[in-house]
Amino acid sequence: MTYQQVLENARTCIGPYCKACNDCNGKVCRNTMPGPGAKGEGTGFIRNAEKWREICVNMDTICENSQVDTSFTLFDWTFEIPAFAAPVGAMRLHYGDKYDDLTYNNILVRACANAGILAFTGDGTDPKVVEGAAEALKANGGCGVPTIKPWDMDTIREKFALVQESEPFAIAMDIDAAGLPFLQGLTPPAGSKSVEELKQIVSWAQRPFILKGIMTARGAEKALEAGASGIVVSNHGGRVLDHCPATAEVLPDIVDAVGGKMTILVDGAIRSGMDMFKALALGADAVLIGRPFVTTVYGGGEEGVQLYVQKLKAELADTMRMCGAHSLADIDRSMLYGF
Ligand SMILES: Cc1cc2nc3c(=O)[nH]c(=O)nc-3n(C[C@H](O)[C@H](O)[C@H](O)COP(=O)(O)O)c2cc1C
Repeated sequence: MTYQQVLENARTCIGPYCKACNDCNGKVCRNTMPGPGAKGEGTGFIRNAEKWREICVNMDTICENSQVDTSFTLFDWTFEIPAFAAPVGAMRLHYGDKYDDLTYNNILVRACANAGILAFTGDGTDPKVVEGAAEALKANGGCGVPTIKPWDMDTIREKFALVQESEPFAIAMDIDAAGLPFLQGLTPPAGSKSVEELKQIVSWAQRPFILKGIMTARGAEKALEAGASGIVVSNHGGRVLDHCPATAEVLPDIVDAVGGKMTILVDGAIRSGMDMFKALALGADAVLIGRPFVTTVYGGGEEGVQLYVQKLKAELADTMRMCGAHSLADIDRSMLYGF
């Protein structure tokens, strides 16, 4: 199977909204929610994609000709590449009938573990979403990061207790999720959390805690103050608030504020090893990739995921080689044009 065949297969079974585009950039799905698009006019997803593509890299091949190493270590685990599958929840709502969350996560979590990375798993209004994620993580030695929505404190505590049984690599929370159209006005309610509440939540995690949905240096400092081990610079792929800047635009300020003090991950239309290189050069430690992993699972199952991870690795290694970086530690802003 080729990656192109994976995309073609996905087009036959990925539901009415996603078109499994060759370039997954938010233009065709624009404001389809339910579906893979973005909120409001749908500008957030498109801007995320455009800003990575606008950045150029500095080619410099006058350097030692030695092997390129793409491996990445986080919280004592070592991965093939600095990229993880982002959490995507409520599969039936967004991608039709082929998979529910349990079946989707079973394939994704195992496939990512076998490919040498790991998967974040999603959460939804149906309690079965997190139950399914916890089962998939348990079956795969905890190789993943359950990502819980910012429900009321009692529900968060219950969901943490549930996912802890799978002894996950880390636990995350998408703190921006209350902006999702289908999460508004629900019981239990989801919403913002104060630094004091987050300190309590961090203490319940009992393992590295990652806060996803940070878009300002001040937000990153608050996450640090609350005791988070890491953040994901993310605007939820444009799904929680329209007219946000792109993640590539806010990343440098956030790195300047908290870089070296906590792990910084970033997502939002990162599609290739080249995009990954740019994110690392701006100062991220690693990236999350969301929608393309859905397409690969629908179009190619485990093999699709394996193919996509190999493709990302080859693209990253090629870019590193051509820009004079032999390990991830060598990558810095001087390798980007105009920075
Ligand atoms: C259909 C769909 C469902 C999502 N569900 C979740 C979720 O349950 N939890 C979460 O933290 N993020 C969720 N996200 C956001 C992704 O994790 C990610 O932040 C976003 O899609 C940006 O990355 P991408 O452009 O690579 O997809 C979802 C995104 C999509 C498209």
